[in-house]
Amino acid sequence: MLYQSLYRQYRPMGFQKGFIGQEHIVRTLQNSLQTGRLAHAYLFSGPRGTGKTTTAKILAKAVNCLSADKPVMEPCNRCELCLAVNQGNAMDVIEMDAATNRGIEEVRDLRDRVKYAPALGRYKVYIIDEVHMLTTEAFNALLKTLEEPPAHVIFILATTEPQKIPATIISRCQRFDFRPLTEDLIATHLQSIAQQTGVNLNQEAANILAFRAQGGMRDAIGLLEQVIAFAQEDITPEQVWQALGTVDKARLVELVSSMAAKDIGAVLKLLDEFGNMGLDFRQLLTDLLELLREKLLQVTGARKTKISDDLGLKTAPEIMTMMDSVASGLQDSRRWTHPRLATELIMIKICNSLKSGPVREQKQPPAVKSPKKVKQEKPVAGEKWDDVLSLVKGESISSYAWLKEATPFIEADSLVLEYPGNYGLHCENIVKPEHRQVLVLAFRQVLGIDVYTVRTRE
Ligand SMILES: Nc1ncnc2c1ncn2[C@@H]1O[C@H](COP(=O)(O)OP(=O)(O)O)[C@@H](O)[C@H]1O
Ligand SMILES: [Mg+2]
Ligand SMILES: [Zn+2]
Repeated sequence: MLYQSLYRQYRPMGFQKGFIGQEHIVRTLQNSLQTGRLAHAYLFSGPRGTGKTTTAKILAKAVNCLSADKPVMEPCNRCELCLAVNQGNAMDVIEMDAATNRGIEEVRDLRDRVKYAPALGRYKVYIIDEVHMLTTEAFNALLKTLEEPPAHVIFILATTEPQKIPATIISRCQRFDFRPLTEDLIATHLQSIAQQTGVNLNQEAANILAFRAQGGMRDAIGLLEQVIAFAQEDITPEQVWQALGTVDKARLVELVSSMAAKDIGAVLKLLDEFGNMGLDFRQLLTDLLELLREKLLQVTGARKTKISDDLGLKTAPEIMTMMDSVASGLQDSRRWTHPRLATELIMIKICNSLKSGPVREQKQPPAVKSPKKVKQEKPVAGEKWDDVLSLVKGESISSYAWLKEATPFIEADSLVLEYPGNYGLHCENIVKPEHRQVLVLAFRQVLGIDVYTVRTRE
């Protein structure tokens, strides 16, 4: 048998058989199935992977199911017709993808054919996916059919972009808006799929996947599949990190709250940990932006979200400042040569830009001109220093310009930058905060040292 992707294997067969959420839609549809008051055209709109096509197929089975002599509230999935729909070869259920068949020909063809009675069932059901992609002519032709639909025809139009559909079409349809699924629902569903697949999915790991899927069940299942391919049987949060280059929400909350507390040391420690896990820093910024967005929605009262107060951000301006920096960092990220360093810089800048409270630094600022004594000093290996220089150059040309004249030594546990005697200006500049930020990170990354002092040679 051909390999079938997980999300197809787990397409719910009925409203009560694995279909999650969208209760408002299920209830209304089941009522009309029971009372027999069916519409001739339905419009299913909503984000991708939220159950539009799935619902269309369940509805197509329910109106036609041969287990009774009228439409049923739940398809039997055993009769000839239900089975044919499940296999995608039912004569009476015609699926059209407007993204690939946009044109007038197909719709005309459809208009000619709707008049023929269904072969096996009670209704001919036309499911037109991504209906917003139809051309204007095709919409006009469709409208003609919708104006006088034969009694035995039901149209189900599905779209992710309802605003692109002509009002004349919308007004002929009964409209259902599919909502993004909540993280809890998605996480629970993923665990049940994992269990059926014989995989152990840890709760926290499920939560990470659910957060990443942003309301779409198909994406959630796709992500699970990716992780299964990577981790085989036991799925832990660490494996999700590694497979997807992503991090769980609790750690993101920790990161944001450290920034809000201006605790640079804690921020760097977290980023270091993420880096060692092989995390994708671009993805981190994307996730961060999403988290902040949810918090903003909460703080402004625009939407109820379940974000904890642990973020440490209380006001909309604070959140927006942070979002702004993250977003611009993300924009620059295509040019990143050192993602970790770039991310560290963004976060430190955020710490510095937040108004309240003093910045908590890990180390004391370096002293200019340390007293000159004879000490055990070691030169820094040439190629290591080249790495430092190129890292710094990639981040800040001016820091690089001041740094490149220095001769580096390692003395005790700190780095000494030695300049020729008449380089006083260099000594003054190289310790300014804007350069210090860049240098400390580069030193730490390449040399494992984050303290430096400056002196002149006599
Ligand atoms: N509400 C839901 N409940 C359970 N699974 C769902 C739901 N929505 C989507 N899925 C999963 O995602 C897959 C794709 O869903 P689909 O209905 O085609 O989404 P849409 O048409 O809205 O893009 C399904 O096969 C199923 O595995
Ligand atoms: Mg679909
Ligand atoms: Zn049936």
